[in-house]
Amino acid sequence: ESAMKNGFPHFMLKEIHEQPDALKNTILPRLVKGLPDFTDDQIPDHIFKDCSQIHIVACGTAMHAGMAARALIEPLLRIPVTVSIASEFRYEEPLVDNKTLVVIISQSGETIDTLAALRLAKQYGANTLSVVNVKGSTIARESDYVLYTHAGPEIAVASTKAYSVQLAALYMIGCRMAYVRECYSKEEATEFMKELLDAIPAMEAMLEKKEVVKDLVSHLIQKPDAFFIGRGLDYAFSLEGALKLKEISYIHAEAYAAGELKHGTIALITDQVPVIAIATQEKVFSKTISNIREVKARGAFVILLTKENAQVERGVSDIQINIPDINDRFTVFPIAVILQLIAYYASVGKNLDVDQPRNLAKSVTVE
Ligand code: G6P
Repeated sequence: ESAMKNGFPHFMLKEIHEQPDALKNTILPRLVKGLPDFTDDQIPDHIFKDCSQIHIVACGTAMHAGMAARALIEPLLRIPVTVSIASEFRYEEPLVDNKTLVVIISQSGETIDTLAALRLAKQYGANTLSVVNVKGSTIARESDYVLYTHAGPEIAVASTKAYSVQLAALYMIGCRMAYVRECYSKEEATEFMKELLDAIPAMEAMLEKKEVVKDLVSHLIQKPDAFFIGRGLDYAFSLEGALKLKEISYIHAEAYAAGELKHGTIALITDQVPVIAIATQEKVFSKTISNIREVKARGAFVILLTKENAQVERGVSDIQINIPDINDRFTVFPIAVILQLIAYYASVGKNLDVDQPRNLAKSVTVE
């Protein structure tokens, strides 16, 4: 086992470090003349052109990848993009028809609820495209089309590299769709892909900062709760940050859309309560900063994740971690690395079993 960990103390840390390569392996083989191209995956453009809506279905971390993809793809394509939790979708009467592209996301390709959702979507006549990591898995075999992510085996129960490659795959799908639906010119699609690739060195830069994260978890591990806030894409990233922290450090963590704080959660903000605030989106930056000021005024201990070039006044946060100044749409990649490292070091700091957290399974194949 220690040979498999490649010198890392835990699989999770190894897998966090594998993300830049996993991204390259997922993106580069599908980049033809700068454009995303799924010819080798045998995914025809007509499924992208003919649909009037997209319905994304998944569980856990894969569902969070879907949430972030929705926030990026819907404004790009100007068609409805819905994200459903598979265990809900399968017992609803979803508004899915033969004009719906159902995108199923699953690392293992074996999650029982996700598989049931796929079967239901097929019954409704939808075109089904799955984004799966494990070759030949049940979901991959039963979907009409498959886009494999190339993260390699993920051993740690808490998903890390599978999340980033799912996002890369979904962003490529969004870009290809925008191109074939003429929302994007060839130049715009090429530029999008170029900026997606810029996220890879940005992730590497965050791995270099792991000592900073290691030091800051001392502010978290004595605490029973932590809050994650953000708006827009940053909110979607917070959901995954909170899940990661809960899963392996057992700290109760909640993600909140920053503007919604004052409708409840702010009642829980008292002296030294940790708040991890994500502010990478220019469009809502000043709004998120005012929400941070609100929690700070109530004594919160604020860890701010933002872009290097952001103008942040002194005193807004207690600790600030900057990601490189990449295009707003792709900040999830470096942000995910920081959020994963926060959860990882919190778990290590509490002497917990990082790779095998209590009560959790890598793949949930029974109901
Ligand atoms: C389990 C795992 C999670 C994962 C979820 C969905 O809960 O612990 O890490 O996100 O299942 O798994 P899947 O294989 O379908 O992506």
